[in-house]
Amino acid sequence: MNEWKKAVQELRKPAYDIDPVYIQRWSPRSFQDKEVQEDTLFSLFEAARWAPSALNIQPWRFILARTKEDKERFQSFIMEGNRTWAEKAPVLFLIISRKTDDKIGDNVSHAFDAGTAWGYLSLEAARKGLITHPMGGFHKDMAREVLNIPDDYALHAVVAVGYQGEKQALPEKLQQREQPSDRRSLKESVFEGTFQ
Ligand SMILES: Cc1cc2nc3c(=O)[nH]c(=O)nc-3n(C[C@H](O)[C@H](O)[C@H](O)COP(=O)(O)O)c2cc1C
Repeated sequence: MNEWKKAVQELRKPAYDIDPVYIQRWSPRSFQDKEVQEDTLFSLFEAARWAPSALNIQPWRFILARTKEDKERFQSFIMEGNRTWAEKAPVLFLIISRKTDDKIGDNVSHAFDAGTAWGYLSLEAARKGLITHPMGGFHKDMAREVLNIPDDYALHAVVAVGYQGEKQALPEKLQQREQPSDRRSLKESVFEGTFQ
């Protein structure tokens, strides 16, 4: 068992029986200098593809950056605090979703559905031994302009994807944060009958 799997099991204790992948997915910041093979990468988007969405509209879109040139374009709108570690990731992508639909007009669940797709993707990544780290810390107006994204699309998160690196490779301050987080108890999130 690798070091991180052990750490996850010590720090994350599910109260009910679930597949281990749910606790094994977390958001590290240290990336190895290792490429992600095409088939492996696209299997993540394949998992996202099968997410449910209102009326099966599938409002999500993913803009990928793998080449040096494309990643530099992403770095131009990622905020400083994220850029320091995210620049080591071999793959970045932006999750966006279309706010309208040709048949129904406004699609009120576009963000909900894009979130579901991201959830599927991140779990498949964990299953494949990859790490993903989502970031809301990027300049949305700049990203829209630089990536030529139409007004009809909402921008959600940039995600860094790759293989987990050594904690020691991070700056001191980030090393302290490089560990799986816990969650509040279920009773704080699940209400029986009415809102409590
Ligand atoms: C929409 C969204 C935006 C986030 N933005 C950032 C960010 O800008 N920088 C960062 O370091 N982490 C960011 N995170 C990661 C969260 O802090 C992390 O998912 C959360 O603390 C739970 O930890 P875990 O993913 O390791 O389980 C973001 C996560 C989500 C879902």
